[in-house]
Amino acid sequence: MSGRLVCVDRWNPQREIIEEAGSLLRRGGLVAFPTETVYGLGANGLDPSAVERIFEAKGRPSDNPLILHVASSETVHSLAVTDERALLLMEAFWPGPLTLVLRSRSSVPDVTRGGLDTVALRMPSHPVALALISASGVPVAAPSANRSGRPSPTEASVVLGDLGEGVDLVLDGGSTEVGVESTVLDVSDSMPVLLRPGGIPLEALEEVLGRVSLPEGTLALRRSPGMRYRHYAPSVPVRLWPETGPWPVVDSELSVGYMGLRREAVTVAYRIHFDSPEHYAAGLFSGLRYLEEAGVDVIVADFPGTGGIALAIRDRLSRASGLQ
Ligand code: TXA
Ligand code: MG
Repeated sequence: MSGRLVCVDRWNPQREIIEEAGSLLRRGGLVAFPTETVYGLGANGLDPSAVERIFEAKGRPSDNPLILHVASSETVHSLAVTDERALLLMEAFWPGPLTLVLRSRSSVPDVTRGGLDTVALRMPSHPVALALISASGVPVAAPSANRSGRPSPTEASVVLGDLGEGVDLVLDGGSTEVGVESTVLDVSDSMPVLLRPGGIPLEALEEVLGRVSLPEGTLALRRSPGMRYRHYAPSVPVRLWPETGPWPVVDSELSVGYMGLRREAVTVAYRIHFDSPEHYAAGLFSGLRYLEEAGVDVIVADFPGTGGIALAIRDRLSRASGLQ
């Protein structure tokens, strides 16, 4: 069933489809599936050869660890060491777009955690993801289902375009809602560290935890291997338009694709307008891909302020533009 795409009902995922996909995962196959953030490329996270297939399919460096997706909080105990703080966070934000980095138990293979002594865990809220993980009976290792370095997929067709024959089955559950990936929070040590801003805003974490630190420079690189690599980049240059800055394209000959929140009258070849930061986040990756395919010379993207989901938008845009 190479490269097969199957439509599945988001709210009432069809039993036969989910059972088949779950059994494929148990047998070492790769199944792409929707989560509330982006599409994931799933494999049995406890089967080293299945996990290796993920790295091959994505062209992903082997020292960049994967997130294990679970369908219940109880599963976590056999995979990682939890403390009260972790339990509090799970209670507050699961199921949902928060990934917790915890000290790993030996049940998690080295290849899944990129040789680290920690493991990343998340319980997604998307009904198709939850049904699939339950049906598989295993923790599902799943990075975003794009070629390494490309914008993450928020639609099933993009997964096939990027990974083609590398994936055995794609469950098409429509567009994903949040549009940017989960927030990654390291709680393996005494001070919680935000490794990647995402679907759960920093402010919400701070309400539960008090202070959360933001890693800078080498600490960030050491603690989150994923931060080392160029990410989310379309094949055309991306220029950022800060809230108070000037329009960033000087050359009037260039064909420009604009995406963002502002309505200012700038002449562009394509314009994608979002009416809230949440909609911007939801359409960010598909917008980048759309403008790339439209054949513009340069993409200009609004670079919003920092509150709420905007922190995640800024992070993804900085990387897409090569700033980080
Ligand atoms: O929303 C999401 O999180 C999506 C969906 C599919 O769940 N998944 C996702 O996975 O974005 P991926 O592999 O594209 O990003 C996972 C990030 C990477 O930056 C990786 O380095 C980091 O999490 N990570 C994974 N395990 C880690 C660990 N043990 N310590 C530190 N960072 C870790
Ligand atoms: Mg990714």
